[in-house]
Amino acid sequence: MTYKVRTAVFPVAGLGTRFLPASKVVPKEMLPVVDMPLIQYAANEAVEAGCRTLVFVVNRYKHAIADYFDTAYELEHRLEMKGRADLLDRVRSTLPDGVRCVFVTQSEARGLGHAVLCARPVVGDEPFAVLLPDDLIWNRGKGALAQMVEVAERERGSVVAVEDVPREKTGSYGIVSLADAGQAHGDALRMAAIVEKPAPERAPSTLGVVGRYVLSGGIFGALAATPPGAGNEIQLTDAIEALIEAGDPVWAYRFAGTRYDCGNKLGLVQATLRYALDDAELRAPTLAHLREVLDGSG
Ligand code: G1P
Repeated sequence: MTYKVRTAVFPVAGLGTRFLPASKVVPKEMLPVVDMPLIQYAANEAVEAGCRTLVFVVNRYKHAIADYFDTAYELEHRLEMKGRADLLDRVRSTLPDGVRCVFVTQSEARGLGHAVLCARPVVGDEPFAVLLPDDLIWNRGKGALAQMVEVAERERGSVVAVEDVPREKTGSYGIVSLADAGQAHGDALRMAAIVEKPAPERAPSTLGVVGRYVLSGGIFGALAATPPGAGNEIQLTDAIEALIEAGDPVWAYRFAGTRYDCGNKLGLVQATLRYALDDAELRAPTLAHLREVLDGSG
């Protein structure tokens, strides 16, 4: 059987309390970085990696996400009448041809693992990707997920994105320990264990999980058998640990790119600056304004 990643799952049923009061009405995934919402960056990364079915795991407060990916006939008609081909392109670029969206409801907040399990009827037994849109990964070259899909299809196994995190922060991440160095296949590092949000003194390493995963279909069986863990939620991390214990190959991958934690205010500010400074039109005026602010004149 081929190992091909065609489906991406976006667990987007979280509350977004760090962005209250904005997130009272605007789902945090719809917060913009310059001119695109976070969910669009994640969708683009999935499409670039070859995914053609995008599964959004939502709840009743996230209807804006479905609206966003839907066709906006009236708006498109008006832009057409005004001859604004440039804007029409932007509006239509939310979903390229040949890519379909599926919306699945997670009616109870039972954790990330439970959210992923909700996508099982759509995904089936195939390998698939999971992207947490809060983690925005900036890179000039190939996107992080495309890099991971290459590794997963080559190794025919699950791949989890990792990066080094400060030891005092291990309690915010899944933390990975690696099998002996002999088991590294090029850029893929064989995982020996993974644990959700360990206290710094108990963390087996400082290699933290970032919100990008390629998972073999077997994860669904593991998730169905996973009891609530950290925070009394069904954790994806615990199901990945079960895969490892069952002898399934799971690889840790240090992606090329910079990750911004846009689930936090500071991360969103930093990402906004990064994307603004990367934009041909915005770079000079953004730098000029930063200089004014830093000089105390702005
Ligand atoms: C989730 C995962 C955690 C991972 C993190 C990456 O945690 O449970 O293992 O390290 O995403 O962003 P959350 O940030 O949803 O608490």
